[in-house]
Parts: sequence; structure tokens; C-alpha cells
Amino acid sequence: MTGDQPAAHPAWLPDKAFRTVGSRHVLVCADGPLAQTVAQEVAHAAEQHGGSLHHRPAGQAAPHPDGDNAEDGSGTEAHGGTSNGSGAAGEPRFDLVLALTGADDLPEAAAMVLAELDWRSGRGMLGAEGFALGRRDGVTVVLADEPAGLLHGLFQVVRLGETAFGATQPIEVHHPVTARRMLNHWDNIDAHPVMGQVERGYSGGSIFWRDGGLTPDLGRVRAYARLLASIGVNAVTVNNVNVHATEARLLTDRLGDVAALAEVLRPYGIRTHLSVNFNSPVALGGLPTADPLDDGVRAWWADTTRQVYAAIPDFGGYVVKADSEGQPGPFGYGRTHADGANTLAAALEPFGGVVHWRAFVYNHTQDWRDRSTDRARAAYDHFAPLDGQFAGNVILQVKYGPIDFQTREPVSPVIAAMPGTRLAVELQVTQEYTGQQRHVCYLGPLWHEVLAFEPWGDGRTVAAVAAGRGADNGPTGFEGGLVAVSNVGDDPFWTGHPLAQANLYAFGRLAWNPHLDPAAVLDEWIDLTFAPAATADPGLLRQTLHEVMDGSWQTYESYTAPLGVGFMVRPGSHYGPDVDGYEYTPWGTYHFADRDGIGVDRSRATGTGFTGQYPQPWAQVYESADSCPDELLLFFHHVPYTHVLHSGKTVVQHIYDTHFEGADRVARMRSRWAGLAGLVAPDLDARVRERLDEQSRCAQEWRDQINTYFYRKSGIPDAHGRRIH
Ligand code: GCU
Repeated sequence: MTGDQPAAHPAWLPDKAFRTVGSRHVLVCADGPLAQTVAQEVAHAAEQHGGSLHHRPAGQAAPHPDGDNAEDGSGTEAHGGTSNGSGAAGEPRFDLVLALTGADDLPEAAAMVLAELDWRSGRGMLGAEGFALGRRDGVTVVLADEPAGLLHGLFQVVRLGETAFGATQPIEVHHPVTARRMLNHWDNIDAHPVMGQVERGYSGGSIFWRDGGLTPDLGRVRAYARLLASIGVNAVTVNNVNVHATEARLLTDRLGDVAALAEVLRPYGIRTHLSVNFNSPVALGGLPTADPLDDGVRAWWADTTRQVYAAIPDFGGYVVKADSEGQPGPFGYGRTHADGANTLAAALEPFGGVVHWRAFVYNHTQDWRDRSTDRARAAYDHFAPLDGQFAGNVILQVKYGPIDFQTREPVSPVIAAMPGTRLAVELQVTQEYTGQQRHVCYLGPLWHEVLAFEPWGDGRTVAAVAAGRGADNGPTGFEGGLVAVSNVGDDPFWTGHPLAQANLYAFGRLAWNPHLDPAAVLDEWIDLTFAPAATADPGLLRQTLHEVMDGSWQTYESYTAPLGVGFMVRPGSHYGPDVDGYEYTPWGTYHFADRDGIGVDRSRATGTGFTGQYPQPWAQVYESADSCPDELLLFFHHVPYTHVLHSGKTVVQHIYDTHFEGADRVARMRSRWAGLAGLVAPDLDARVRERLDEQSRCAQEWRDQINTYFYRKSGIPDAHGRRIH
């Protein structure tokens, strides 16, 4: 930590979260850098809480009571006392054993768990990151085929707390559902004149870059890597998808900085990826063209990539935003996006790297008068015809909705349209359109809904597509991933709003296992972060956090985005209400409100035909205003204000009601939080209060502007006679 930066909040990994592990006698039986990380975590916890660590390499026999056989430096570290007594074979007795399945001479309980595991599935089935967890004979056992699995297993034990050391537990096998779980940082090295240092960042500056170069505070990066490892994130990009001039050079003469970051992320099982500019062969290589089919260009990418791997042998690959919002791309050379992606993929392929190629391609210079162009259609129109043409190490990265991370969108039809392409689903943890970390908006329920959506209505989910088992429901080997835009900055609370830490936590946990219940994930986060049990009123603390956070996405939706209308935000900043702010712009984000009604007709019968991009049953469900779910009605249909929803209300009355209720709910959140006095740390309390004040002010502004706008447009009064201006 350098002098000018305040100490970072521990987020969900305060020392006290490690009490149950740290007060135990622990054996780590594994070697390699990740095993070292596991051992360091346990050693640190033992120092705090009086337990002990014994660490020996997997290929080494157990120590005997009369002597320690770890003299090669792999060593025994004992804190707060030595190991407690002897096991049956004369070995020290441990409360927790974390061991590789290939380790020699396992303690008896671990050998029992291994035998059961062998009987069930056979060792070697845990994979690169999976682990088995069981409790036998008073010993909690984590087994993994690879050290990364032990790291994930350790954090699972931390999450379970005392439960992990209770009664005998049946063996549970944990695998990540999605192999690639990545965070994209939209961080710039130089502060951008409009966007600042972190594009759409609401938590201060970058944790990676400072003063025009690599941050001197690599300790902060290490703390971040640790947080990410604990939630299962295994890949990170360290620069913005809009790759400006300075940042483009991270690929070449500034590569050393990327290598330095990779060095810090590696011990936590996190691979480093880089956003690259498609025009790099010209801008950095001095070539006359960046045409992806040009031999010189292909050679430049191959050579440049070789040098990247020489510096970072486990480099993950590239992320590319091409032909999007002014970024260069293959269209500039009359080539397809498959041509573009495949050229970069060919350069990465010999090293096992991948290209995350973004599908966020649309016309951002649209004429608002042109009713035939529909931005929602764009990604599908551009990419669906290319299905099957992408190289095996290209992953098409698709935003979850067809437009742009709005509070409510249908799931993107691209996710169901490309069975021959590896797909990653992109979420936005940074709250660009969901309150910018000034408003409480727990996004777990939104992501859960997206991941559980069944594009074909037959049990196959978006999560399965991202895992690589989508269209044909086949085995893995076609993995895509889950990606999210990070919400982290150098703010002491990491995320600006302390409660926004829960979104980062939930992204990792849901990426690991999309079937988790977001409320249960929130519980985990609350327990780790706030340790309610150690406070004067655990029930009140837990209940208040749930009351403030559980339904906060729907609350945010209620005062900002009725029935699937998006983009009624202030242009540029995207914060606060401006109903017509985007209505006459080139961005393709319109609501078409007039005196009679509102919404975008995207039906096949009379509109843009977007509903036809969905497979059945959704193509039909969305086509008709009668069957379209209320919450998406105005995304798919233009209806009169008097249209009656399934809820029985008219559209305009729904708008009034939700806006009054939404602002009231925020007022209640605020007073609920005030009742917590003394149960949370004063600095965190002060920060949350300040944000809730702003949320409350802003929600009233939204309520009044939206209600007034629609009252003036429609001339229809509120049925309950409340105050509209
Ligand atoms: C949004 C956001 C931009 C960002 C873009 C993207 O449009 O406002 O700042 O660059 O998404 O995803 O590339």
C-alpha cells in the first residue's frame, strides 16, 4: 500500500471470515504456486486465530511425531501451537486436510474420502478446477486433481464456516459449470477526456494503472486477485475494450506492464487477457493495412502474439471490440467478422489462447427518422449468418440483451442462434444503467433470470449455452463463458457503494454455478462481509440487508424503466432521468412516445420483425401484445396508454403506480438502513447513508419527471389523484 492511498476495505474476506479455518490444524498436501497460495492463506489465518498449518508436497510421506520430514523448505509452519496429537498411523491429527488426489500417504480420513471418490467417479474427474469436499472421522477433507481446485475448495470451507466442521458430511463434488469466468476492466492508462480513467467506472481510478503507467500499488492488485479467486473468477482483461493510443501499446512496447500484472494474478489462478485494437498492425506495426486477409497483417499478429507469450506464458488471449461505436474492424476492409476474428485466433492458437470477439456491433449513426432500422436486430443480423465460420478458439462475446445492459431487456436472440460457435454471455457488473453505484441495485436476480432463461423453452438454458452445452446439449469441449464488466476501482470500498460489492461477489458465484439462488448468494456475502453473528443483533443486520437489497433491482426498475422501456436517461452520463434525451439522437434507442401511446413495435406483423429472431416458443410469445410478458411489453410493442396489462392495470396507471411506489420504497430502504446504527463499521455506514440520500433524491426526480411527462403526453390523470406536476 503506498502512502497516498487509504487502506482498502477487506470486502468479503476480512480476517474474521477465516476464523473457523484459522483456528484449526490444517494439512496442505500439494505443491506448485497455487498450492503455495493455499498454504499462505491458511498460514495467515492460523496466525490470526491460533491454529496451525502443516504443508508438504504431494509426493512426500507423512511426517512422524518424532521428526519433521519437510526439511527441503516446503516445510511445516505451525502457528498458535503444534498439531494436536497423533492419528492412527502415528501422523499428526488434522482438522482439515487439503490434498491433491495424487498425493502420497494421505491421512486416514482423506484416504477414506479418496476411496469413496474413486468408487463414485474415479480420480482425475475433478478436472482443472473442481474439488471434492467431505467430512470423515472428525476431519474435513478437500481433494482436488489440480492445485486450483484446492484453492476453490479452501474458499468453500471458508464460506461454510462451522458447518464445514460439523457432522459427517456426504461427499460433495464441486465443478465450475462455466469454464471461463472473466471480468473485463474498462480501464484506461490515461484518463480519457470524457470517460475518465475507467470508462463507466463509478469507483474512482483504475487499480491497475496510475499516473500514466503501471500502478505502484501491486499490493492492491494482489488483494483484488485474492477476492476474485475466492469467488471463482479465473480470467481478467486489464484494459478497456475501446483501446486508445496509449493502451494499444500494451500489446507491444508496454507489454512489460501487462506481464507484471500477470505475475500478481497468476498465484490466484487468474489468467491475464488484453483488449486489443483491430488497427494495431497499422498503428503499432507501421503496416499500410490491417486487412485480416493480408499476409503481412497475419504475420504481424503471429509475430506480436509470439512475443506476448514469451513474456506471459499463460496469457489468456485477446478481447476485441471491432466495427463498434467508432472502433476499427474488418468492415473497413470489406471483410467479415469471421475473417477478422480468425486472423487473431490463428496467431493465438499455437499457444492455447482465445479471442473473445464482441458481438456488440450496430449502427450508431442512425437517422432517428428511419423507422426501418432496429438496433435490437443488429447483433443477430451481423453474426447469425456467420455461425460455423469462426475458428475453434474464437469465443463470440454477446451482451445478455439485444441493446445495451438496460435494466430490463429480453435475452439476446443471438444466444440461441449460433449452435456452431462458442459463445460467452456478457453481463455488466458496473452499474452504468442501473444506478451507477449511487443506487442500491443488487443484480443477482437479474443475472439469475437471464442465465435460467430457456431460449427454446425446453429446459436448455442460457447458462448451458455459456457452459458449452447449449444448442445440442452435448458434452463439454465447446466451452464459451461468462464475462462481466467490472465495477472495481481504487476507491477504498472497491466499488464506490459498499453494497455494490455484492454484485461482484454474485457475478463470480453465479458464473461458477448459475443454479445458485441469488438470495442465498447474498446471504453468503452478508455472512462473510458483516459477520452478523458477532454483532449485537444478528437478526436485525441480516434482515435489514435483505430488505434493502433483495428486491433492489425491481425497485430500481420501478422508478426508471417501466415495462421494458430503456434509455430514458441523460445522454452521455446515463445517470438520472431525461425521457426524450435519446429520442432524436443517432444511437437507435427510442421509445416513440406520442399522445396516444408508447413502445417499439418489433413484431413481424407490423414492426421491425425482431421477434422473428427468436426460436419458438418466444417468437410467438413476444409477437403478440396479448402474450408478451408485461415487463417487456413496451420493448416489443407500441400500445395505447389505455392498453390493459395482464396485471389488470392500464399502461399509464402502471407507470404512475410504479413510480410512486418505487420512490416510496427507496425512502423505506433509507429508513431501514438508519435503524442499523452501530451494527456496521462507521465508515461503511456513512458511505451507504450518503448514497441512500442521493438515491432517494434521484428516485423522486425520476418519479416526478416520468409521471409528469406521461401525464402531459396522455392527458390521463392518476386514478388515485396523487401529485403530478
Ligand atoms: C455502452 C457504454 C460504452 C461502452 C459500450 C461497449 O454503450 O455506454 O461506454 O463502450 O457499451 O460495451 O462497448
